[in-house]
Amino acid sequence: MTDKTSNQMWGGRFAAGPDAIMEAINASIGFDQRMAAQDIAGSRAHAAMLAATGVITDNDAEAIREGLLTVLSEIESGEFQFSTALEDIHMNVEARLKEIIGEPAGRLHTGRSRNDQVATDFKLWVRDQFDAAEKGLLALIGALVDQAEAGAEWVMPGFTHLQTAQPVTWGHHMMAYVEMFGRDLSRVRDARKRMNESPLGSAALAGTSFPIDREMTAEALGFDRPTANSLDAVSDRDFALEFLSTASICAMHLSRFAEELVIWSSAQFRFVTLSDRFSTGSSIMPQKKNPDAAELIRAKVGRIFGANTALMMVMKGLPLAYSKDMQEDKEQVFDAADNWMLALAAMEGMVKDMTGNRDSLAAAAGSGFSTATDLADWMVRVLKVPFRDAHHVTGALVAMAEGRGVDLPDLTLEDMKSVHAGITEDIFSVLGVENSVNSRTSYGGTAPAQVRAQVARWKQILG
Ligand code: ARG
Repeated sequence: MTDKTSNQMWGGRFAAGPDAIMEAINASIGFDQRMAAQDIAGSRAHAAMLAATGVITDNDAEAIREGLLTVLSEIESGEFQFSTALEDIHMNVEARLKEIIGEPAGRLHTGRSRNDQVATDFKLWVRDQFDAAEKGLLALIGALVDQAEAGAEWVMPGFTHLQTAQPVTWGHHMMAYVEMFGRDLSRVRDARKRMNESPLGSAALAGTSFPIDREMTAEALGFDRPTANSLDAVSDRDFALEFLSTASICAMHLSRFAEELVIWSSAQFRFVTLSDRFSTGSSIMPQKKNPDAAELIRAKVGRIFGANTALMMVMKGLPLAYSKDMQEDKEQVFDAADNWMLALAAMEGMVKDMTGNRDSLAAAAGSGFSTATDLADWMVRVLKVPFRDAHHVTGALVAMAEGRGVDLPDLTLEDMKSVHAGITEDIFSVLGVENSVNSRTSYGGTAPAQVRAQVARWKQILG
Protein backbone atom coordinates (compact mmCIF):
# COMPACT_ATOMS: atom_id res chain seq x y z
CA MET A 1 0.00 0.00 0.00
CA THR A 2 1.22 3.43 -0.88
CA ASP A 3 1.34 6.16 1.72
CA LYS A 4 -1.58 8.55 1.17
CA THR A 5 0.80 11.47 0.95
CA SER A 6 2.88 10.10 -1.90
CA ASN A 7 2.25 11.51 -5.36
CA GLN A 8 -0.95 10.25 -6.95
CA MET A 9 0.63 10.28 -10.41
CA TRP A 10 3.88 8.48 -9.78
CA GLY A 11 3.73 7.50 -6.11
CA GLY A 12 3.42 3.74 -6.66
CA ARG A 13 6.92 2.89 -5.46
CA PHE A 14 7.06 5.62 -2.83
CA ALA A 15 6.36 5.09 0.86
CA ALA A 16 6.34 8.78 1.78
CA GLY A 17 5.62 12.15 0.22
CA PRO A 18 8.31 14.70 -0.58
CA ASP A 19 9.87 17.08 1.90
CA ALA A 20 8.49 20.61 1.67
CA ILE A 21 11.83 21.83 0.31
CA MET A 22 11.79 19.06 -2.27
CA GLU A 23 8.34 20.13 -3.35
CA ALA A 24 9.45 23.74 -3.59
CA ILE A 25 12.48 23.02 -5.76
CA ASN A 26 10.63 20.48 -7.86
CA ALA A 27 7.40 22.25 -8.70
CA SER A 28 7.02 24.20 -11.91
CA ILE A 29 3.29 24.87 -11.68
CA GLY A 30 3.99 28.43 -10.49
CA PHE A 31 5.12 29.29 -13.98
CA ASP A 32 4.26 26.48 -16.40
CA GLN A 33 0.54 27.15 -15.90
CA ARG A 34 1.11 29.65 -18.71
CA MET A 35 1.14 26.62 -21.01
CA ALA A 36 -2.30 25.36 -19.92
CA ALA A 37 -3.97 25.98 -23.28
CA GLN A 38 -1.12 24.25 -25.12
CA ASP A 39 -1.17 21.34 -22.68
CA ILE A 40 -4.87 20.79 -23.21
CA ALA A 41 -4.57 21.13 -26.99
CA GLY A 42 -1.81 18.49 -26.94
CA SER A 43 -3.89 16.15 -24.79
CA ARG A 44 -6.93 16.55 -27.00
CA ALA A 45 -4.91 15.69 -30.09
CA HIS A 46 -3.34 12.72 -28.30
CA ALA A 47 -6.68 11.35 -27.07
CA ALA A 48 -8.31 11.66 -30.50
CA MET A 49 -5.37 9.80 -32.02
CA LEU A 50 -5.50 7.04 -29.38
CA ALA A 51 -9.14 6.46 -30.30
CA ALA A 52 -8.48 6.58 -34.05
CA THR A 53 -5.77 3.94 -33.70
CA GLY A 54 -7.91 1.76 -31.43
CA VAL A 55 -5.70 2.17 -28.37
CA ILE A 56 -8.61 3.56 -26.35
CA THR A 57 -12.34 3.45 -27.05
CA ASP A 58 -14.27 6.23 -28.72
CA ASN A 59 -16.33 6.60 -25.55
CA ASP A 60 -13.25 7.17 -23.43
CA ALA A 61 -11.87 9.63 -25.97
CA GLU A 62 -15.12 11.55 -25.95
CA ALA A 63 -15.19 11.70 -22.15
CA ILE A 64 -11.57 12.91 -22.17
CA ARG A 65 -12.33 15.52 -24.81
CA GLU A 66 -15.30 16.93 -22.90
CA GLY A 67 -13.47 16.80 -19.60
CA LEU A 68 -10.49 18.66 -21.02
CA LEU A 69 -12.77 21.40 -22.31
CA THR A 70 -14.21 21.76 -18.81
CA VAL A 71 -10.70 21.97 -17.35
CA LEU A 72 -9.77 24.62 -19.91
CA SER A 73 -12.79 26.74 -19.07
CA GLU A 74 -12.03 26.43 -15.36
CA ILE A 75 -8.49 27.62 -15.98
CA GLU A 76 -9.61 30.45 -18.23
CA SER A 77 -12.18 31.67 -15.72
CA GLY A 78 -9.62 31.59 -12.91
CA GLU A 79 -11.50 29.11 -10.73
CA PHE A 80 -8.99 26.28 -11.24
CA GLN A 81 -7.07 25.39 -8.09
CA PHE A 82 -3.44 24.82 -9.01
CA SER A 83 -1.62 22.47 -6.67
CA THR A 84 2.11 22.54 -5.96
CA ALA A 85 1.92 18.93 -4.82
CA LEU A 86 0.96 18.06 -8.38
CA GLU A 87 4.22 19.64 -9.58
CA ASP A 88 3.37 20.93 -13.01
CA ILE A 89 0.68 21.85 -15.48
CA HIS A 90 0.59 18.35 -16.98
CA MET A 91 -0.26 16.61 -13.73
CA ASN A 92 -2.55 19.40 -12.53
CA VAL A 93 -4.66 19.08 -15.66
CA GLU A 94 -4.71 15.28 -15.58
CA ALA A 95 -5.62 15.13 -11.90
CA ARG A 96 -8.52 17.53 -12.38
CA LEU A 97 -9.62 15.56 -15.43
CA LYS A 98 -9.76 12.47 -13.21
CA GLU A 99 -11.93 14.31 -10.71
CA ILE A 100 -14.31 15.32 -13.48
CA ILE A 101 -14.54 12.19 -15.65
CA GLY A 102 -13.14 9.44 -13.45
CA GLU A 103 -11.51 6.32 -14.86
CA PRO A 104 -11.11 7.25 -18.56
CA ALA A 105 -8.74 10.06 -17.45
CA GLY A 106 -6.23 7.37 -16.52
CA ARG A 107 -6.07 6.19 -20.15
CA LEU A 108 -4.97 9.57 -21.56
CA HIS A 109 -1.32 9.09 -20.67
CA THR A 110 -1.02 5.92 -22.76
CA GLY A 111 1.91 5.96 -25.20
CA ARG A 112 3.13 9.31 -24.00
CA SER A 113 5.28 10.74 -21.21
CA ARG A 114 5.61 14.12 -19.59
CA ASN A 115 8.88 14.37 -21.48
CA ASP A 116 7.32 14.50 -24.93
CA GLN A 117 4.33 16.30 -23.46
CA VAL A 118 6.36 19.19 -22.08
CA ALA A 119 8.43 19.45 -25.25
CA THR A 120 5.20 19.64 -27.27
CA ASP A 121 3.53 22.20 -25.00
CA PHE A 122 6.60 24.38 -24.89
CA LYS A 123 7.08 24.25 -28.64
CA LEU A 124 3.49 25.32 -29.17
CA TRP A 125 4.00 28.20 -26.75
CA VAL A 126 7.26 29.33 -28.34
CA ARG A 127 5.74 29.02 -31.81
CA ASP A 128 3.02 31.51 -30.81
CA GLN A 129 5.71 33.87 -29.62
CA PHE A 130 7.59 33.63 -32.90
CA ASP A 131 4.31 34.63 -34.55
CA ALA A 132 3.87 37.53 -32.14
CA ALA A 133 7.44 38.66 -32.79
CA GLU A 134 6.83 38.54 -36.53
CA LYS A 135 3.81 40.80 -36.11
CA GLY A 136 5.68 43.19 -33.84
CA LEU A 137 8.61 43.41 -36.24
CA LEU A 138 6.38 44.04 -39.24
CA ALA A 139 4.63 46.87 -37.39
CA LEU A 140 7.92 48.43 -36.34
CA ILE A 141 9.37 48.14 -39.84
CA GLY A 142 6.22 49.78 -41.22
CA ALA A 143 6.61 52.73 -38.84
CA LEU A 144 10.28 53.16 -39.80
CA VAL A 145 9.49 53.03 -43.51
CA ASP A 146 6.89 55.79 -42.99
CA GLN A 147 9.47 57.94 -41.21
CA ALA A 148 11.97 57.30 -44.00
CA GLU A 149 9.48 58.27 -46.66
CA ALA A 150 8.50 61.49 -44.89
CA GLY A 151 12.12 62.58 -44.52
CA ALA A 152 13.76 60.94 -47.51
CA GLU A 153 15.69 64.11 -48.38
CA TRP A 154 16.19 65.68 -44.95
CA VAL A 155 19.90 66.10 -44.31
CA MET A 156 21.57 65.18 -41.05
CA PRO A 157 25.09 64.37 -39.95
CA GLY A 158 26.23 60.81 -40.42
CA PHE A 159 28.64 59.68 -37.75
CA THR A 160 31.52 57.32 -37.31
CA HIS A 161 33.05 57.11 -33.82
CA LEU A 162 30.14 59.45 -32.97
CA GLN A 163 32.15 62.17 -34.73
CA THR A 164 30.62 63.99 -37.69
CA ALA A 165 31.63 62.02 -40.76
CA GLN A 166 29.55 62.82 -43.85
CA PRO A 167 26.06 64.20 -44.37
CA VAL A 168 23.39 61.54 -44.75
CA THR A 169 19.62 61.67 -45.08
CA TRP A 170 17.10 61.02 -42.34
CA GLY A 171 15.45 58.50 -44.62
CA HIS A 172 18.72 56.64 -45.05
CA HIS A 173 19.23 56.46 -41.29
CA MET A 174 15.69 55.12 -40.73
CA MET A 175 16.13 52.57 -43.50
CA ALA A 176 19.32 51.29 -41.86
CA TYR A 177 17.15 50.09 -38.99
CA VAL A 178 14.65 48.65 -41.43
CA GLU A 179 17.44 46.45 -42.77
CA MET A 180 18.37 45.33 -39.24
CA PHE A 181 14.81 44.52 -38.23
CA GLY A 182 14.31 42.92 -41.63
CA ARG A 183 17.12 40.46 -40.83
CA ASP A 184 15.49 39.83 -37.45
CA LEU A 185 12.25 39.08 -39.26
CA SER A 186 13.96 36.58 -41.51
CA ARG A 187 15.61 34.91 -38.50
CA VAL A 188 12.21 34.64 -36.80
CA ARG A 189 10.64 33.05 -39.87
CA ASP A 190 13.56 30.75 -40.44
CA ALA A 191 13.68 29.51 -36.83
CA ARG A 192 9.93 29.06 -36.74
CA LYS A 193 10.06 26.87 -39.80
CA ARG A 194 12.85 24.72 -38.36
CA MET A 195 11.19 24.21 -34.98
CA ASN A 196 7.80 23.19 -36.33
CA GLU A 197 8.10 19.42 -35.77
CA SER A 198 6.01 17.52 -33.25
CA PRO A 199 7.76 15.71 -30.36
CA LEU A 200 4.47 14.13 -29.26
CA GLY A 201 4.63 10.34 -29.27
CA SER A 202 8.35 10.24 -28.58
CA ALA A 203 7.19 9.17 -25.11
CA ALA A 204 9.79 9.11 -22.34
CA LEU A 205 12.75 8.73 -24.71
CA ALA A 206 12.48 5.54 -26.74
CA GLY A 207 9.13 5.84 -28.48
CA THR A 208 6.29 3.47 -27.65
CA SER A 209 5.02 -0.01 -28.47
CA PHE A 210 1.44 1.24 -28.89
CA PRO A 211 0.38 1.63 -32.52
CA ILE A 212 0.21 5.42 -32.34
CA ASP A 213 -0.08 7.76 -35.32
CA ARG A 214 2.36 10.60 -34.88
CA GLU A 215 1.49 12.13 -38.25
CA MET A 216 -2.05 12.57 -37.02
CA THR A 217 -1.17 14.41 -33.81
CA ALA A 218 1.45 16.48 -35.62
CA GLU A 219 -1.12 17.62 -38.14
CA ALA A 220 -3.79 18.30 -35.51
CA LEU A 221 -1.39 20.61 -33.68
CA GLY A 222 -0.26 22.48 -36.78
CA PHE A 223 3.20 20.92 -36.95
CA ASP A 224 4.73 20.19 -40.35
CA ARG A 225 5.78 16.65 -39.38
CA PRO A 226 6.73 14.53 -36.37
CA THR A 227 10.31 14.68 -35.10
CA ALA A 228 12.44 11.86 -36.49
CA ASN A 229 14.34 10.75 -33.38
CA SER A 230 12.63 10.25 -30.03
CA LEU A 231 15.82 10.68 -27.98
CA ASP A 232 16.51 14.00 -29.66
CA ALA A 233 12.88 15.12 -29.48
CA VAL A 234 12.62 14.94 -25.69
CA SER A 235 16.05 16.42 -25.03
CA ASP A 236 16.03 19.19 -27.63
CA ARG A 237 15.65 22.80 -26.58
CA ASP A 238 17.22 24.30 -29.69
CA PHE A 239 13.90 25.91 -30.55
CA ALA A 240 13.95 27.82 -27.25
CA LEU A 241 17.58 28.77 -27.77
CA GLU A 242 16.94 29.94 -31.30
CA PHE A 243 14.06 31.99 -29.96
CA LEU A 244 16.31 33.55 -27.33
CA SER A 245 19.23 34.17 -29.65
CA THR A 246 16.94 35.68 -32.28
CA ALA A 247 15.40 37.80 -29.55
CA SER A 248 18.88 38.77 -28.35
CA ILE A 249 20.07 40.01 -31.74
CA CYS A 250 16.83 41.91 -32.26
CA ALA A 251 17.03 43.36 -28.75
CA MET A 252 20.56 44.52 -29.53
CA HIS A 253 19.19 46.40 -32.55
CA LEU A 254 16.41 47.86 -30.43
CA SER A 255 18.96 48.94 -27.87
CA ARG A 256 21.17 50.69 -30.42
CA PHE A 257 18.22 52.62 -31.77
CA ALA A 258 17.05 53.39 -28.24
CA GLU A 259 20.51 54.76 -27.47
CA GLU A 260 20.33 57.01 -30.53
CA LEU A 261 16.92 58.28 -29.49
CA VAL A 262 18.22 59.10 -26.01
CA ILE A 263 21.08 61.09 -27.55
CA TRP A 264 18.96 62.67 -30.27
CA SER A 265 16.26 63.88 -27.92
CA SER A 266 18.76 65.67 -25.64
CA ALA A 267 18.91 69.47 -25.56
CA GLN A 268 22.42 69.26 -27.03
CA PHE A 269 21.24 67.43 -30.16
CA ARG A 270 17.54 68.23 -30.61
CA PHE A 271 17.40 65.89 -33.61
CA VAL A 272 14.05 64.46 -32.54
CA THR A 273 11.15 65.35 -30.32
CA LEU A 274 9.56 62.35 -28.68
CA SER A 275 5.84 62.51 -28.07
CA ASP A 276 4.37 63.11 -24.64
CA ARG A 277 2.82 59.68 -24.92
CA PHE A 278 6.25 58.06 -24.87
CA SER A 279 8.06 60.34 -22.41
CA THR A 280 7.87 61.14 -18.73
CA GLY A 281 8.50 64.20 -16.61
CA SER A 282 10.64 64.79 -13.56
CA SER A 283 9.13 65.26 -10.13
CA ILE A 284 11.62 68.01 -9.31
CA MET A 285 12.78 69.58 -12.59
CA PRO A 286 9.79 71.07 -14.42
CA GLN A 287 11.61 71.45 -17.74
CA LYS A 288 12.42 67.74 -18.06
CA LYS A 289 10.95 65.40 -20.65
CA ASN A 290 12.68 62.10 -20.29
CA PRO A 291 12.99 59.38 -22.94
CA ASP A 292 12.17 56.60 -20.45
CA ALA A 293 10.72 54.21 -22.99
CA ALA A 294 13.96 54.32 -24.96
CA GLU A 295 16.02 53.88 -21.81
CA LEU A 296 13.97 50.89 -20.70
CA ILE A 297 14.19 49.27 -24.12
CA ARG A 298 17.97 49.71 -23.86
CA ALA A 299 17.88 48.04 -20.46
CA LYS A 300 15.52 45.18 -21.36
CA VAL A 301 18.28 43.81 -23.54
CA GLY A 302 20.15 42.78 -20.42
CA ARG A 303 17.54 40.32 -19.30
CA ILE A 304 17.03 38.95 -22.81
CA PHE A 305 20.77 38.30 -23.24
CA GLY A 306 20.74 36.89 -19.72
CA ALA A 307 17.99 34.41 -20.58
CA ASN A 308 19.89 33.26 -23.65
CA THR A 309 23.06 32.73 -21.65
CA ALA A 310 21.22 31.04 -18.79
CA LEU A 311 19.57 28.44 -21.00
CA MET A 312 22.80 27.80 -22.88
CA MET A 313 24.41 27.06 -19.53
CA VAL A 314 21.55 24.80 -18.47
CA MET A 315 21.77 22.74 -21.64
CA LYS A 316 25.49 22.47 -22.22
CA GLY A 317 26.25 19.67 -19.80
CA LEU A 318 23.20 17.46 -20.18
CA PRO A 319 23.57 13.89 -21.36
CA LEU A 320 20.69 12.50 -23.45
CA ALA A 321 17.80 12.43 -23.01
CA TYR A 322 15.57 14.43 -20.65
CA SER A 323 16.98 15.81 -17.40
CA LYS A 324 15.06 17.84 -14.87
CA ASP A 325 17.47 20.70 -15.44
CA MET A 326 15.44 21.38 -18.54
CA GLN A 327 12.52 22.57 -16.45
CA GLU A 328 14.57 25.74 -16.02
CA ASP A 329 13.98 26.62 -19.66
CA LYS A 330 10.54 28.14 -19.25
CA GLU A 331 10.96 31.08 -16.94
CA GLN A 332 13.84 32.37 -19.05
CA VAL A 333 11.84 32.14 -22.25
CA PHE A 334 8.65 33.55 -20.72
CA ASP A 335 10.47 36.57 -19.34
CA ALA A 336 12.44 37.18 -22.52
CA ALA A 337 9.32 36.84 -24.67
CA ASP A 338 7.28 39.24 -22.53
CA ASN A 339 10.00 41.84 -22.60
CA TRP A 340 10.86 41.40 -26.26
CA MET A 341 7.21 41.93 -27.29
CA LEU A 342 6.91 44.93 -24.99
CA ALA A 343 10.11 46.47 -26.33
CA LEU A 344 9.00 45.98 -29.94
CA ALA A 345 5.63 47.60 -29.23
CA ALA A 346 7.19 50.49 -27.31
CA MET A 347 9.68 51.14 -30.09
CA GLU A 348 6.95 51.06 -32.68
CA GLY A 349 4.94 53.56 -30.65
CA MET A 350 7.90 55.89 -30.21
CA VAL A 351 8.86 55.76 -33.88
CA LYS A 352 5.29 56.44 -35.01
CA ASP A 353 4.97 59.42 -32.69
CA MET A 354 8.41 61.02 -32.95
CA THR A 355 9.11 64.17 -34.93
CA GLY A 356 12.41 64.60 -36.72
CA ASN A 357 13.48 68.24 -36.29
CA ARG A 358 14.41 69.04 -39.84
CA ASP A 359 16.08 72.40 -39.09
CA SER A 360 18.27 71.12 -36.25
CA LEU A 361 19.22 68.13 -38.35
CA ALA A 362 20.18 70.37 -41.28
CA ALA A 363 22.15 72.77 -39.09
CA ALA A 364 24.10 69.91 -37.57
CA ALA A 365 24.65 68.37 -41.00
CA GLY A 366 26.47 71.47 -42.21
CA SER A 367 28.85 71.76 -39.28
CA GLY A 368 31.87 69.72 -38.37
CA PHE A 369 33.46 69.85 -41.86
CA SER A 370 31.04 67.16 -42.98
CA THR A 371 31.73 67.79 -46.67
CA ALA A 372 35.51 67.41 -46.44
CA THR A 373 35.33 64.11 -48.31
CA ASP A 374 33.34 65.80 -51.08
CA LEU A 375 36.12 68.38 -51.38
CA ALA A 376 38.77 65.67 -51.67
CA ASP A 377 36.65 63.70 -54.15
CA TRP A 378 36.24 66.86 -56.28
CA MET A 379 40.03 67.20 -56.54
CA VAL A 380 40.32 63.60 -57.61
CA ARG A 381 37.55 63.90 -60.17
CA VAL A 382 38.31 67.35 -61.61
CA LEU A 383 42.03 67.85 -61.03
CA LYS A 384 42.96 64.16 -61.34
CA VAL A 385 44.93 64.44 -58.09
CA PRO A 386 45.61 61.04 -56.42
CA PHE A 387 43.12 60.53 -53.52
CA ARG A 388 45.87 60.37 -50.88
CA ASP A 389 47.19 63.79 -51.96
CA ALA A 390 43.68 65.24 -52.13
CA HIS A 391 43.09 63.91 -48.60
CA HIS A 392 46.21 65.72 -47.43
CA VAL A 393 45.27 69.04 -49.08
CA THR A 394 41.75 68.83 -47.66
CA GLY A 395 43.15 68.16 -44.21
CA ALA A 396 45.18 71.37 -44.46
CA LEU A 397 42.06 73.32 -45.48
CA VAL A 398 40.10 71.84 -42.57
CA ALA A 399 42.89 72.91 -40.22
CA MET A 400 42.80 76.42 -41.70
CA ALA A 401 39.00 76.67 -41.27
CA GLU A 402 39.17 75.25 -37.78
CA GLY A 403 41.86 77.81 -36.86
CA ARG A 404 39.53 80.60 -37.94
CA GLY A 405 36.46 79.08 -36.36
CA VAL A 406 34.60 78.76 -39.66
CA ASP A 407 33.31 75.94 -41.85
CA LEU A 408 34.73 74.85 -45.21
CA PRO A 409 32.29 76.82 -47.42
CA ASP A 410 33.33 79.99 -45.53
CA LEU A 411 36.90 79.84 -46.87
CA THR A 412 37.63 81.99 -49.93
CA LEU A 413 38.93 80.75 -53.26
CA GLU A 414 42.24 82.48 -52.42
CA ASP A 415 42.43 80.49 -49.17
CA MET A 416 41.90 77.32 -51.15
CA LYS A 417 44.45 78.22 -53.80
CA SER A 418 47.05 78.97 -51.15
CA VAL A 419 46.97 75.28 -50.30
CA HIS A 420 46.51 73.90 -53.81
CA ALA A 421 46.89 76.23 -56.78
CA GLY A 422 44.71 74.14 -59.12
CA ILE A 423 41.47 74.62 -57.13
CA THR A 424 38.78 76.62 -58.97
CA GLU A 425 35.48 78.32 -58.08
CA ASP A 426 33.68 75.08 -59.01
CA ILE A 427 34.81 73.58 -55.70
CA PHE A 428 32.06 75.47 -53.86
CA SER A 429 29.41 73.53 -55.73
CA VAL A 430 30.30 70.37 -53.79
CA LEU A 431 30.62 71.88 -50.32
CA GLY A 432 26.89 72.12 -49.63
CA VAL A 433 25.32 69.25 -47.71
CA GLU A 434 22.38 68.90 -50.13
CA ASN A 435 24.78 68.46 -52.97
CA SER A 436 26.75 66.00 -50.93
CA VAL A 437 23.83 63.67 -50.20
CA ASN A 438 22.35 64.05 -53.70
CA SER A 439 25.65 62.93 -55.20
CA ARG A 440 25.78 59.63 -53.25
CA THR A 441 23.65 57.67 -55.67
CA SER A 442 25.59 54.41 -55.52
CA TYR A 443 23.29 51.45 -54.75
CA GLY A 444 22.43 51.58 -51.06
CA GLY A 445 23.84 55.09 -50.75
CA THR A 446 22.34 58.04 -48.90
CA ALA A 447 20.93 59.97 -51.90
CA PRO A 448 17.17 60.60 -51.56
CA ALA A 449 16.62 58.74 -54.84
CA GLN A 450 18.27 55.64 -53.36
CA VAL A 451 16.29 55.99 -50.13
CA ARG A 452 13.03 56.23 -52.07
CA ALA A 453 13.92 53.14 -54.06
CA GLN A 454 14.46 51.21 -50.81
CA VAL A 455 11.25 52.59 -49.32
CA ALA A 456 9.38 51.35 -52.40
CA ARG A 457 11.02 47.94 -52.16
CA TRP A 458 10.03 47.58 -48.50
CA LYS A 459 6.50 48.79 -49.10
CA GLN A 460 6.13 46.01 -51.61
CA ILE A 461 7.54 43.47 -49.12
CA LEU A 462 5.16 44.72 -46.42
CA GLY A 463 2.26 44.55 -48.87
N1 ARG B 1 7.69 19.96 -15.31
C1 ARG B 1 8.57 19.22 -16.14
C2 ARG B 1 9.41 20.16 -17.01
O1 ARG B 1 9.05 21.28 -17.12
C3 ARG B 1 7.81 18.29 -17.01
C4 ARG B 1 8.58 17.09 -17.43
C5 ARG B 1 8.83 16.20 -16.27
N2 ARG B 1 9.42 14.97 -16.67
C6 ARG B 1 9.95 14.12 -15.80
N3 ARG B 1 10.48 13.04 -16.28
N4 ARG B 1 10.00 14.38 -14.53
O2 ARG B 1 10.41 19.80 -17.57
